[in-house]
Amino acid sequence: MKKVLGIIGSPRKLGNSEVLIKEISRNVPEPHELSLIRLNDFNILPCKGCYMCLVTGNPCHLDDDLPVIKEAVLSADAFIVAAPAYLLGANASLKRVLDRIMGFNENKEFKQWGKPSIGIAIAGMKGKEGYTKLNIESFLKILLTDIKRSDILYGALPGEIFMNEENKKTAAELGSALFKPAPEITGPRCLLCGGDTFRFLGDNRLQCMLCSNSGTFSMEKGEPVLSIQKSGHDIFLSEGDSTQHANWLTGMKGSFKDHKKKLKVITQSYAEEGLWVLPPSKKTGE
Ligand SMILES: Cc1cc2nc3c(=O)[nH]c(=O)nc-3n(C[C@H](O)[C@H](O)[C@H](O)COP(=O)(O)O)c2cc1C
Repeated sequence: MKKVLGIIGSPRKLGNSEVLIKEISRNVPEPHELSLIRLNDFNILPCKGCYMCLVTGNPCHLDDDLPVIKEAVLSADAFIVAAPAYLLGANASLKRVLDRIMGFNENKEFKQWGKPSIGIAIAGMKGKEGYTKLNIESFLKILLTDIKRSDILYGALPGEIFMNEENKKTAAELGSALFKPAPEITGPRCLLCGGDTFRFLGDNRLQCMLCSNSGTFSMEKGEPVLSIQKSGHDIFLSEGDSTQHANWLTGMKGSFKDHKKKLKVITQSYAEEGLWVLPPSKKTGE
């Protein structure tokens, strides 16, 4: 039986994210068992940027609940992730885990590579979703999963998304898509990764904010037609890209060692500037 992991990026019990994940799971035709993680239930410390997790055989030294999430992720066959818009982006619980996710690929093994996933942003107001969907897609891509579909559903009060029958239909479609081949990429989307959020660079050039590759666009019969090529920002388009990226990061750790003295001269020249506002735990002499 397939193991589907529902990752809830909302603190609300039986809120829209939770009921949506359960509704999608009800509509997955393949026999499966649904496990659930509410990220806010876990004590996840912020990444300290030490890069130790990039050194082979070095697990993250932060002592918190992340290993439980890592174990659940590595043993899942598929993922359904839903999170609400909080001030135009996904609830911070998702980003806290995302920042620590490089440590999931021990010894540069990408155990989640290509596992199917679905991501849904929930927003209380139409048009106020900001970059929430992009946040969730980034989470799923950086987790190295194969996003079968992603969407935005609207509803503010807990359960409100299903006061709208259309959303039930969408949930049914999402559920049936999870273990099917990904649909062909159509419309004004990045042909490399399926992303639909872009930065306009001038001269008809644009960059995909999901895979970071860039290209051009033109208008044909009133519709934008995009042509995006691999442009040296390949993190997750193939397993080889992911290995290359991991090697680059490891190289940066080596480069830091090589340039440590020079870098210290630069940073130390700023050491004494400014008055620090400190949290109570860091105040000395009291
Ligand atoms: C602190 C906070 C910030 C929010 N910011 C937004 C927002 O920027 N845009 C939006 O459409 N909805 C916003 N909402 C509404 C939630 O996205 C909405 O209520 C959603 O249904 C919550 O999902 P949940 O039930 O899974 O928690 C916000 C809610 C809270 C509590």
